[in-house]
Amino acid sequence: MQFRAVKGMNDILPDEVGRWQRLEQSFRRSAELYGFQELRTPLLENTELFVRSIGETTDVVEKEMYTLERGKESLTLRPEGTASAARAYVEHSVHAKEPVSRWYYLGAMFRAERPQRGRYRQFYQAGCEIFGDPGPAADAELIDMLVGLFTDLGIGELEVAVNSIGGAETRARYRAALLDYFRPQQGALSEHAQARLDSNPLRILDSKDPRDKAASAGAPALIDQLSDEDRAHWDGLRRALDALETPYKVEAGLVRGLDYYTRTLFEVRSNQGELGTQNTLAGGGRYDGMIQSLGGPDVPAIGFAMGLERILLAMPKRETAPLPFCFIAPIGEGALLDALKLARDIRRLGCRSDVDGRGGSLKGMLRRADACGARLCVVLGESELARGVVQLKDLAERSQHELPRDSAAAMVVERLRAVDPRAERVAAVDRSDA
Ligand code: HAM
Repeated sequence: MQFRAVKGMNDILPDEVGRWQRLEQSFRRSAELYGFQELRTPLLENTELFVRSIGETTDVVEKEMYTLERGKESLTLRPEGTASAARAYVEHSVHAKEPVSRWYYLGAMFRAERPQRGRYRQFYQAGCEIFGDPGPAADAELIDMLVGLFTDLGIGELEVAVNSIGGAETRARYRAALLDYFRPQQGALSEHAQARLDSNPLRILDSKDPRDKAASAGAPALIDQLSDEDRAHWDGLRRALDALETPYKVEAGLVRGLDYYTRTLFEVRSNQGELGTQNTLAGGGRYDGMIQSLGGPDVPAIGFAMGLERILLAMPKRETAPLPFCFIAPIGEGALLDALKLARDIRRLGCRSDVDGRGGSLKGMLRRADACGARLCVVLGESELARGVVQLKDLAERSQHELPRDSAAAMVVERLRAVDPRAERVAAVDRSDA
């Protein structure tokens, strides 16, 4: 039997990892410039955390959670990062230590969705959460940060949609207005929407079913029913976005699929690259009630998460030349031991070097050096070692020099850097403190 990866879960092979790393580095850099610090939480949480925060009647909680029961415990693989961040914030009483916390995270999330391009069952999110800042300047900064990051990554055709769904009071009023609107046409709704009409009428606006879409067309807009405080927040957000010259459009129908949101909601989409229908790169919003609902103090919060797979589908495929490196070809057992030392010295100076430990003829080793893409090859022969020298071949220039063994590592590194100054970046260990 041949095993395959679980449906909707992907291997990321070494030849794709370079793009992932570039994306992750750009995200980290951008987050740190905005004052965010990294948070790492467990992959598993108590199921109840997600039910309480994301909402019992959401698709994520109703259909998509990977839940495992162990004895009396019910644990769930995190379907997103916000609930875990909020749980950690409350658990460690972070509000008592600092008035505002800015956290970011990167990692795998799990949702049992129907897999398609840009939608997977294990996928990677990078997210930012701000606790303790009531906004709306913070809201605008987050949106602007996303636009800046995506633009830097070369993603064009960006579309920023924003909306406000108000706070608890506005929502209660709107819920009543929606019920009044949908009730007379209840029979025309999908079965799923009919079942959720009383518990969550807002979600009908988010339904993909054509019957619900048709029924929603004339629904009252929440944005027209905001309370004075919600409206002041909304106006403040728009003024800040205008001041930052962040292009956006108001999308009154934007509701998003998680129940914890209050006031600001936003999504950033792109029509560039291979995205297709799953073109929402990032989504987020305010969730001012979550910290309190998880047993913490009344602390406002806002954040977003972006899907790394989708961003990679949208990012232009830039070919970057691989870093030049040195291949070491030892002829004979004594030479192999010396080759290990030479390779280690080259690496300590910050450049990559590979030792051929498979033995055999010089011709065979040179063929392998070429095949693996090495720029330089150091040949260590027993007779040369006896004379205290090595042969250095430049495989691109087809030239050869004899070097003193003692200075071989330094000279190899110097040549690699002359070929490409990035060569030293492979340093595996950060010695800046050393
Ligand atoms: P979300 O809209 O569920 O929000 O997910 C955010 C982003 O994650 C999406 O825009 C998409 O790029 C990516 N994503 C979601 N599901 C999948 C999937 N099955 N396959 C591939 N990518 C996917 C949240 O998760 C909220 N926690 C965002 C947030 C943070 N709100 C406040 N703070």
